Amino acid sequence: VRASNSIALSVERLIKGAEVHPGDQLPTIRDLAAALSVSPTTVAAAYRELRHRGLAHSEGRRGTLINDQPSTAALNGLPPPEGVRNLATGSPDPSLVPNLSEVLGKLRLEPVSYGGPVSLQALIDIVRVQFSADGIPGDALTVVSGALDGIERTLSAHLRPGDRVLLEDPCFSRTLALARSLALVPVPVRTDDEGPLPDMVAAALAGGASAFVVTPRAHNPTGAALTVERAQQLQAVLSDHPALVLVEDDHASLVAGAPAVSLVPGWPGHWAVVRSFSKAMGPDVRLAVVAGDTITVDRVERRHALGPGWVAHILQAATAWLLADPATAQLLRKASATYAERRAALLGALAERGIEAHGVSGLNVWVPVAHESRATQHLLHAGWAVHPGEYCRISSPPGVRITIATLAVDEAPALADALADDGPPARSHTPFA
Ligand SMILES: Cc1ncc(COP(=O)(O)O)c(C=O)c1O
Repeated sequence: VRASNSIALSVERLIKGAEVHPGDQLPTIRDLAAALSVSPTTVAAAYRELRHRGLAHSEGRRGTLINDQPSTAALNGLPPPEGVRNLATGSPDPSLVPNLSEVLGKLRLEPVSYGGPVSLQALIDIVRVQFSADGIPGDALTVVSGALDGIERTLSAHLRPGDRVLLEDPCFSRTLALARSLALVPVPVRTDDEGPLPDMVAAALAGGASAFVVTPRAHNPTGAALTVERAQQLQAVLSDHPALVLVEDDHASLVAGAPAVSLVPGWPGHWAVVRSFSKAMGPDVRLAVVAGDTITVDRVERRHALGPGWVAHILQAATAWLLADPATAQLLRKASATYAERRAALLGALAERGIEAHGVSGLNVWVPVAHESRATQHLLHAGWAVHPGEYCRISSPPGVRITIATLAVDEAPALADALADDGPPARSHTPFA
């Protein structure tokens, strides 16, 4: 084993063994080289390897620091104790997603073997029509295993460790963790209810960036949805940066409760819109369709073909069947309307108590709080599990995310009371600042 690899491996073992912790500073290159009697180049190579693995980052004069690497279990939160209502999941209401066991028996599945088409034409045809109805070019499409898979593959197709990526702040915890684990440098962009703030995007771009990941609707955790006006303002800002890779995370698609507004039309550079069906059909569908420029889609598809090969046509056929089924369309309309009603119930109850909250679309409501851990504990004692904003934030202020997917309208006042009991609300500030 090369000496640099073995140093990097030792540090990784120390991290796994919790002997070094997030934020800990590694010795300077010179000190460690002297202590181990190796050359500084060897230690520098080890530190570079740690950065490329997403285990550490460098911070100028502060040297090389250990990254926080929350496990997916930590990001999802522990299952709450019995009797506590779990509003921490971010998941859709199971009673508002189609019953897949009913669907599977109705599918006519052709045998699929190696070397066959990776995408099911019936699915591609339906989603192409959807995209074009939304003004998003659907000439090049490919099928992947969910929104985050599409985002990871798009970022990997274009970016390298150390590249800067603009992320909404706050943003989906797994997107932030994914960017870090790809050794990308997240650059926060503040948002309000209409999406990223153009001035903040301009300022972030001035520092250099290779990609921008935007959640056009059902933003997690704030519920923001791009308006047409905001999209135009953002397009004007972005037009000076045609080398930027634009990635749109349309994770809630058909049940987002807001129209598809996109920054992509007219974009001259590389882009991907990842439309997932995890929220509409249930997370276990594990399927998203990526639209993009031909180079991006080609890179994503070629790389996917070498690993997983393709997304099971069982899933593609089930999704295509559901998308063509009038009863499913009706269920999804009901789901969107129900989520809207549940958001409105909670936002209304909070407003009555003078508590600021956000959620114009999607499955979540974001409530700025003074202290996340206190608010989360307080709510847990009152019988409600919510998601602390900690893992969603880069430099934006604290808040809690409440998944309203299953929150009955008549539960909203009790939940709002519990939040009001937590003490004075965080001082009102927009945008989430
Ligand atoms: C913003 C956002 N993106 C992506 C996902 C995950 O989508 P998928 O299951 O399709 O990977 C979620 C899930 O909650 C999300 O909130």
